[in-house]
Amino acid sequence: MPDAFRLGFGPFAAPAKGVLVVFCGDNLKFGPAASKAIAPAIDHVTRAARAERFSGKSGATLELSVPPGLKAARLVVLGVGKASGLAPKDLVMLGGRVLGKLPAGAADATVFAELPGGAMSAQQAADLAQGLRLRAYAFDRYKTRRKDDEEHKPKSRSVAVAAADAAAARKAYAARDAVAGGVWLARDLVNEPANVLYPEEFARRAQALKKAGVAVEVLDEPALRKLGMNALLGVGQGSARASRVVVMRWNGGKKGEAPVAFIGKGVCFDTGGISIKPAAGMEDMKGDMAGAACVTGLMQALGARKAKVNAVGVIGLVENMPDGKAQRPGDIVTSMSGQTVEIINTDAEGRLVLGDVIWYAAQRFKPKFMVDLATLTGAIIVALGHEYAGMFANNDQLAERLAKAGEETGELVWRMPLAKEYDKLIDSKFADMKNTGGSRWGGAITAAQFIKRFVDDKTPWAHLDIAGTGFDSRQNDINKSWGSGWGVRLLNQLVADHYEK
Ligand code: BES
Ligand code: MN
Ligand code: ZN
Repeated sequence: MPDAFRLGFGPFAAPAKGVLVVFCGDNLKFGPAASKAIAPAIDHVTRAARAERFSGKSGATLELSVPPGLKAARLVVLGVGKASGLAPKDLVMLGGRVLGKLPAGAADATVFAELPGGAMSAQQAADLAQGLRLRAYAFDRYKTRRKDDEEHKPKSRSVAVAAADAAAARKAYAARDAVAGGVWLARDLVNEPANVLYPEEFARRAQALKKAGVAVEVLDEPALRKLGMNALLGVGQGSARASRVVVMRWNGGKKGEAPVAFIGKGVCFDTGGISIKPAAGMEDMKGDMAGAACVTGLMQALGARKAKVNAVGVIGLVENMPDGKAQRPGDIVTSMSGQTVEIINTDAEGRLVLGDVIWYAAQRFKPKFMVDLATLTGAIIVALGHEYAGMFANNDQLAERLAKAGEETGELVWRMPLAKEYDKLIDSKFADMKNTGGSRWGGAITAAQFIKRFVDDKTPWAHLDIAGTGFDSRQNDINKSWGSGWGVRLLNQLVADHYEK
């Protein structure tokens, strides 16, 4: 959707058309620029506020059509209450709230980046703008009927953010725009159906990151066989679609400095394989590549904002299907690490993919740390619902940094335990380990213990189980999309906080 959303920056000036959005604090307190812009209509605004019992409380809205004396067709006043101590993530959310108030098809809007106490800083205006863009995302490419249906027409909007220093705000926005672009890409990948987005097509889309200066390498099946990635290949062997591993590299840091590594589960569709899933809700398994989508969106964002870091993203792309050639329960595979795995349940496939890909990333890149993301277990949704992702880590510092980045961005992670008592649950009668714990209990933990067997303890590592947050998660002011793009902002923040000079 090339023209569906446009965003620009300009000075504080009452617009000649479209929607004017201003913020207002308790007791109907406007900032100086907003006061000036709505001065001709202030009696009307005050009376309407009284009639609607609007006082500027945080979360409240007052909307007026054809406000007298203004050229704007509509005035939207958003309450921000005391508006004190607003963190960056609050401003991002506020931007999302603003966009939610712009009616479908509303062509132009002007938003005053001003709080009751005065103009927002350039950073704050840029955060607000990022929230606008995050909310503006829509996945409507398959809605052909809507094109000629006035009411449901894809929304096309152009928003001007008025700021005290428009040039400074525009400059501060550039990096945030790159991150929002990464979130959009991740959402697109998750939302795409599996007949369109299979491993090769995913790899093709990853190739587009070259435009952002990211080096992209695609490993095909002969290459994976040569590397010995039999755990990953076993998952894909029942599919008519070939498996792929994609390596993305962004070198914006010091030459020769060890990279940070992000690894993603990319099961483009998970039927469960021979241990097939029930029919109800299986369509959601087109999103079982949300981890890989996040890594891809993140790598694009790091490249596009020219992050001063060396980073690698490695994603394992497969389709898990039942077939005459499919892997069976009882099969034993030798992973790239040399460790053997007895397949108990072919639906516990994500850990098999990750085991090989994590091992490969560590051997090849000797990273500073590794973070993997995977829609790995239904059990993590039982434990944490759709708000927090589950975090497992072998390193306290990395875990703490991730938790803090979660608080900063609102993409929250909750640490879960790893311990040898859980580890022994995946010992196998016939091989080095089996791919399920044997009971449902602690299912997210036994999955994490499995992955841990492919990580050497000297490399700081965190595993994020995003089954509850990667898709169909709780919607909020900056996300109305099924595929959430969860994790792009979190990991970008982790990098920005600690790994850029
Ligand atoms: N992709 C699923 C996990 C999942 C379920 C993600 C629901 C998002 C929503 C994963 O491959 C899976 O099937 N896990 C099994 C593991 C079990 C067989 C040990 C599960 O969670 O039931
Ligand atoms: Mn599965
Ligand atoms: Zn899966």
